[in-house]
Amino acid sequence: MNAVIDAIRKRRSVRSYDPRPVPRDIVQTVIEAGNEAPSAMNSQPWRFVIVEDIQIKEKLLGAALPNAKKILEMVKDVDPERYAVIRTRYAELKDPVYYSAPVIVFVIGHGRYADHSCPLACENMMLAAHSLGLGSCWVGFGAMVTEDAEVRSILALQGEEKIFGPILLGYPRDYPEKPAKKEPTATWL
Ligand SMILES: Cc1cc2nc3c(=O)[nH]c(=O)nc-3n(C[C@H](O)[C@H](O)[C@H](O)COP(=O)(O)O)c2cc1C
Repeated sequence: MNAVIDAIRKRRSVRSYDPRPVPRDIVQTVIEAGNEAPSAMNSQPWRFVIVEDIQIKEKLLGAALPNAKKILEMVKDVDPERYAVIRTRYAELKDPVYYSAPVIVFVIGHGRYADHSCPLACENMMLAAHSLGLGSCWVGFGAMVTEDAEVRSILALQGEEKIFGPILLGYPRDYPEKPAKKEPTATWL
């Protein structure tokens, strides 16, 4: 099997991590893979903030959790099945947003090309992580920290900057089964 296709097929969103730290040179390799992503007009409109510090993680969780819970309540009527799964995580986990991952990488984008380009950096990072034996997860709920002045200051967020991801990294404790995926809808002309 081609190694890239294999990584694409086997990468999963990991929500349970071993607490052991990830060596910084490995995290650096993942960041560099993100940085290799294509970007509109080669704008490379991203920067990376890597969080390992436990106190900063606690602040992030404190800022994200109330917003995540609000969104979760909105899912209740729209998608009761998904709501039930996520609700259980919130009831059982100490950190249902960042899953106590050893590393959280904020991909911070700026300018008109960020929306199209930064997610490509995120996907590169998740595939690179998989290829290096790491689990990863894009946690959109973890980006809901931008109203918190202290977190804005920690991330040095400027007015127009946006968070993509954040992307969690760490050695998986449990590796999930592949969730249901639809067959591709493809039209050949
Ligand atoms: C934009 C985006 C936001 C996501 N946010 C979350 C999140 O907040 N929490 C979470 O557990 N998973 C999150 N995920 C992961 C998805 O739930 C996951 O990709 C999906 O269930 C498919 O599973 P797979 O990644 O293992 O193929 C997010 C994924 C994307 C692309």
